[in-house]
Amino acid sequence: MRVVVVGASGTMGSKAVKYLERDGRDVVEASKKTGVNAFTGQGLDEAFDSADAIIDVTNFGSFGSGDALEFFKQAGTNLLTSARKHNVRHYLSLSVVGVESLVENDYFRAKLVQENLIRASGIPHTIIRSTQFFEFLNSIVNTSADDGIIRLPSLLLQPVAGDEVAAWIAKLAAQEPQNSIVEIGGPESADLLDLAKELLTITEDTRPMASQPETRYFGISVLREGLVPKGPTALGKLTYHDWLSRTLYA
Ligand SMILES: NC(=O)c1ccc[n+]([C@@H]2O[C@H](COP(=O)([O-])OP(=O)(O)OC[C@H]3O[C@@H](n4cnc5c(N)ncnc54)[C@H](OP(=O)(O)O)[C@@H]3O)[C@@H](O)[C@H]2O)c1
Repeated sequence: MRVVVVGASGTMGSKAVKYLERDGRDVVEASKKTGVNAFTGQGLDEAFDSADAIIDVTNFGSFGSGDALEFFKQAGTNLLTSARKHNVRHYLSLSVVGVESLVENDYFRAKLVQENLIRASGIPHTIIRSTQFFEFLNSIVNTSADDGIIRLPSLLLQPVAGDEVAAWIAKLAAQEPQNSIVEIGGPESADLLDLAKELLTITEDTRPMASQPETRYFGISVLREGLVPKGPTALGKLTYHDWLSRTLYA
């Protein structure tokens, strides 16, 4: 079975390649570095030749920028057009749990448009919505620093190890398309402040922290439970505490 990973050099893409290869798939690694540009369409037809499944884990570089809409719209259109041309059996794309409540932000609005393009394409697909990767919590904390104080919204998160998401994507790619959304999250939900405390303690970061209901998440007002999965969800097993210990002391 031939699987093309678009965005193969990224955080999720490189992990997905690892699990697909472990499962014995014939993997094509596609990204700008390998001459495949989803935004311009360059190299897509060659990469998709004889593909059974396409996994889109591309990302737009500048989080929160208005150009994200242009990127996900154009890249999504190019990827789906080429997938249709090659009669791809299964098109998978990675999105975000709770994305519909984040549309105030350009990036998340663009992710919803990306999902809509897939649903409207008629191509057999699976949209995978993941909660925040453990690898991403560091960025959430650092972008919340203001005048040396980390100001966090009062928010519940249910983050998950990137490796567990990647293993699940690899498994789904070999299954029949779900033609719907499937969700994955971590084993437990926790207050963002408590997750940040774990991170700062283990990294011996002494910056003060504050959690305030009026503080926004990437500029967006989000309900306290808006980013945790609500329906049936695949759950990872690794806790943030254990992941931090393994990652930092590996
Ligand atoms: N981070 C999280 O917590 C989280 C949670 C849920 C969902 N997601 C979603 O997961 C997806 C992947 O995120 P990530 O953190 O793994 O991203 P990432 O590390 O930034 O990797 C992005 C990948 O996309 C490739 N890429 C960028 N522009 C491209 C283009 N024009 N054509 C082809 N490839 C291109 C990059 O490689 P080149 O630069 O070589 O092209 C890279 O391989 C995103 O769509 C994100 O919304 C992330």
